[in-house]
Amino acid sequence: MKFVVSLLGLVFSASLLAHSTNIPQEIKESEKEIWITLGSDAVLGAQKSVGIDSIEEYTTQDGITIMKMKESGIEAMSHLMHDQFKRCGGFVRHDSLEAAQAELGATSERLFAEKSVLVDYSLDQEELVNEYISQVNEFQIRSVIQKLSSYKNRYYKSQTGVESSNWLLSKWQDLAKGRTDARAYTYKHNRWPQPSVILEIKGKSDEVIVVGGHADSVAGWFGRENAKAPGADDNASGIATTTEVARILLESGYVPEKTIMFMGYAAEEVGLLGSKEIAQDFKAKGKTVVGVMQLDMTNFNGSDLDIVMMSDYTNAAQNAFIGNILDKYLPGVKWGYDRCGYACSDHASWTSAGFPASMPFEAKKADMNSRIHTANDTIARSNGNAEHATKFAKMAVAFVVELDR
Ligand code: BES
Ligand code: ZN
Repeated sequence: MKFVVSLLGLVFSASLLAHSTNIPQEIKESEKEIWITLGSDAVLGAQKSVGIDSIEEYTTQDGITIMKMKESGIEAMSHLMHDQFKRCGGFVRHDSLEAAQAELGATSERLFAEKSVLVDYSLDQEELVNEYISQVNEFQIRSVIQKLSSYKNRYYKSQTGVESSNWLLSKWQDLAKGRTDARAYTYKHNRWPQPSVILEIKGKSDEVIVVGGHADSVAGWFGRENAKAPGADDNASGIATTTEVARILLESGYVPEKTIMFMGYAAEEVGLLGSKEIAQDFKAKGKTVVGVMQLDMTNFNGSDLDIVMMSDYTNAAQNAFIGNILDKYLPGVKWGYDRCGYACSDHASWTSAGFPASMPFEAKKADMNSRIHTANDTIARSNGNAEHATKFAKMAVAFVVELDR
C-alpha cells in the first residue's frame, strides 16, 4: 500500500512539474541526472527552458557554469541554445561532476596557457610536508588570536583598526628577521586608513602563491568605529593560521621556488575592499598568481566535517587538489563541499581577477559560528583553544609546499 501511495505521489509531482514548465510530459522523477557546463550568461535561459526545479546551478568560474539536470531536459536545452544564443550545442554534457569540474579546471589552464603557465597539482613532497605538518603548534595560533581579539575592534576606519594591522606588520617583520629573502610591508589604500599587510618570501621565480585572510573585524551597524568587535573567529583565526604557516616555513629555512605571499587584507567586512584592490593591481601588473588559499574562519568546530571547501567563486581544479592533499596528509580530517551562495570573502576578489582561489571553511554554512560580527566572537566560543585551526595550518603548509615544487 505504502508503495502505491508513494508511486502515485511521484507520478503526480512529476506531472505537476511537467505542466508548470516546458519539460516533456514523459519525464520521470527517477531519471538519470547529468552535469553540463555552459556559458554563465546562458544560466537564466537554461532555467527557463527546462524548468527552474529540474536544473540547478552548482558552481561558476571564469564565465563558465556547471549545472546539474535531468537527462530528459537535454533536448529543450539544445533548442534554447540554438534559438536564443545562436550556439550550436552551446553546452557540454558530462556524466559526472568530476568530468564537468575537469572542464572548468581546463579553463583556468587555458587562461594560463597564454603565458605558458602550467599548474602542477601532483603530490610529491611527502618528506618535507610531513616534517612541516609536525611543526604546527596550537599555542602559537592561540597567541595570535588572543592578541588580535584584544583590540576593541579592527574596523577599517578606526584607530584600533590601524593599530592592529600595524601589530600584525611587526609580528610578520619579526618572522622575516634573519632572512635576506623575506620581508614584511604594508600595502596602503587611498580611500581608508587601515593598510593591508604582506609578508613575502622571494622565490627563484616570479610566480606567486598567496595564503591569506582578512585582518579587519566589525560588529553591529551603527557606531562601528567604537563597537566592541573582537573578531576572534572572524577572522583573527585565519590570520593566526596564516602566521603559523609563515613561521614554520621561515624558521625551518625553507627556500621556495616560487614567491610566497602571506596577506592580511584590510576592509573585507565592508565589501572585500582591500583584496579587490590588491587582486586587480596584480592583474594590471601582469603578475602570475598560480594559487590562492583564503583562510577566513578556521577555529569553530561546528560540523561533522572538519574542513568544508566552498565550491562557488573558487577554482574547482585547485579545490580538488586541496582535497587530495587532505586525503593524503591528513587522513583523519573529514572534509567536504558547501557553498557560500555569494561572494562571501576575499577569494572572490582573486577569482574575479582571473586567478585560481579556494576557500576552505571551518564548518558547513548551516553550522557556522553564529556569534560572528558581535561582541561575543571571542576564543571562548572555541573553548579557549586553537585546536580546530591547527588542521587548517597543516593543510595550508602542505598546499604551499606542494604547489611550490
Ligand atoms: N567570514 C565572513 C564570510 C563567511 C560567513 C563565510 C559565513 C562563510 C560563512 C566574512 O568576513 C563576511 O562577513 N563577509 C560578508 C560579505 C562581505 C562581502 C561584506 C558577509 O558574509 O556578509
Ligand atoms: Zn565577517
